[in-house]
Amino acid sequence: MEKTPIAVLISGRGSNMIALHEAMRKQSMHAEIACVISSSASAEGLQYARENSMPAISYKPELWRDDQQVTDAILHTFSEYHVQLVVLAGFLKKIPEAVVRAFPNRIVNIHPALLPAFGGKGMYGRHVHQAVLDYGCKVSGATVHFVAVDYDTGPPILQECVPVKADDTAESLAARILQLEHRLLPKCVDLLTRGKVQIEGRTTRVLE
Ligand code: GRF
Repeated sequence: MEKTPIAVLISGRGSNMIALHEAMRKQSMHAEIACVISSSASAEGLQYARENSMPAISYKPELWRDDQQVTDAILHTFSEYHVQLVVLAGFLKKIPEAVVRAFPNRIVNIHPALLPAFGGKGMYGRHVHQAVLDYGCKVSGATVHFVAVDYDTGPPILQECVPVKADDTAESLAARILQLEHRLLPKCVDLLTRGKVQIEGRTTRVLE
């Protein structure tokens, strides 16, 4: 069976991309990372991608200010690398609507909270975990979901919880959730590329 070519979009350290790549190396997955696109040329994750012979792409910074240029560049890259599935792994830019529409139910994102709580614009990185603590939540977690036009609103595919501990800081909670993310994202990609995720309206069903 041919491997599904995947594009991974990052903005920073890329630990989820690395976890995905390592899972692909350790277990036989029907997926391979065809290219890595970063919204920033200085993203740490780009170095790992290059060291591991993955095409690592960062466009000119000005391009990100123009929706049409971003759309054209991303779709051109997807076509060049025959991309079938797109994984947003710590990608901080908004995906243009035309790209979402060109890849219906083929773009997934990982979010470090239990959506729809603590999602949306401005809810990224430390802000998410601090908001969870400020609210006094007893659990948080991670969500892998299909990407819709608005931030963090597409149907969830996998969600799992972690406890929030009394002495947690945003950093300790983030670290606990990151471990979960590193397991959940490869699992989701594996399920998707094996055709094990059905979607009906907002409801996804994992066939196992
Ligand atoms: C992760 O917590 C992910 O859920 C969020 O951004 C963070 C990215 O971390 N969207 P990394 O770049 O994968 O290490």
